[in-house]
Amino acid sequence: MHKPAATQYPVHELIRERWSPRAFSEKAVPPEILQSLFEAARWAPSSNNEQPWAFLVGTRGVGDTFKKILGTLVEFNQTWAKHAPVLAIAVSELAFAKNGHSNRNASYDTGAAVSQLTTEATSRGLFVHQMAGFDPHKAAETFAVPNGWEPIAAFAIGYAGDPQTLPESLRERELAPQTRKPLHEFVMSGQWGHAAPFAQK
Ligand SMILES: Cc1cc2nc3c(=O)[nH]c(=O)nc-3n(C[C@H](O)[C@H](O)[C@H](O)COP(=O)(O)O)c2cc1C
Repeated sequence: MHKPAATQYPVHELIRERWSPRAFSEKAVPPEILQSLFEAARWAPSSNNEQPWAFLVGTRGVGDTFKKILGTLVEFNQTWAKHAPVLAIAVSELAFAKNGHSNRNASYDTGAAVSQLTTEATSRGLFVHQMAGFDPHKAAETFAVPNGWEPIAAFAIGYAGDPQTLPESLRERELAPQTRKPLHEFVMSGQWGHAAPFAQK
């Protein structure tokens, strides 16, 4: 399904075309595409070039990682994510490897890596749907995540499917246009709450 963002100002097509579907086609994602997606994540910027991210990745029908990740998702997310061909969990290292000091940007950097992966996915006709709705403790236990690392978010990767296959409540959300706050509400200048001159209504 094509659902381009109705942007206020022009942006690159890759940004306009990205959205988070819940209807996924069962079409498999070839390993060489997955290589490129995680390569894109690899080249994200990070504080002190720490690269404080790691990914647990499961392909449906290959080993048991997919099922294990699915088992960490909240029920709502399981209903649709079980049809995606690939599920992943992004994990962050909470302290700098060099000196053990707390890295307060670890999850920020991990989000940047997922964002780059998502842009690469969009460029290849794939979609990514991120999820906070999972149990990070269960994920840490299931995959023996070491101390000092924290599961941050889960995500599904795949090709968009037919919205008609979704239960009715999800279908409505799938077909609804994307919405966003206007620029003047969050781009400020001078003092908090004052829209930057270029962002004013
Ligand atoms: C960190 C994060 C957590 C999210 N958690 C969930 C989730 O648990 N379940 C879900 O269906 N969507 C989840 N989403 C998807 C958002 O609802 C979605 O990105 C947002 O509504 C904007 O829609 P769009 O991505 O289609 O533009 C999450 C997105 C992000 C970035």
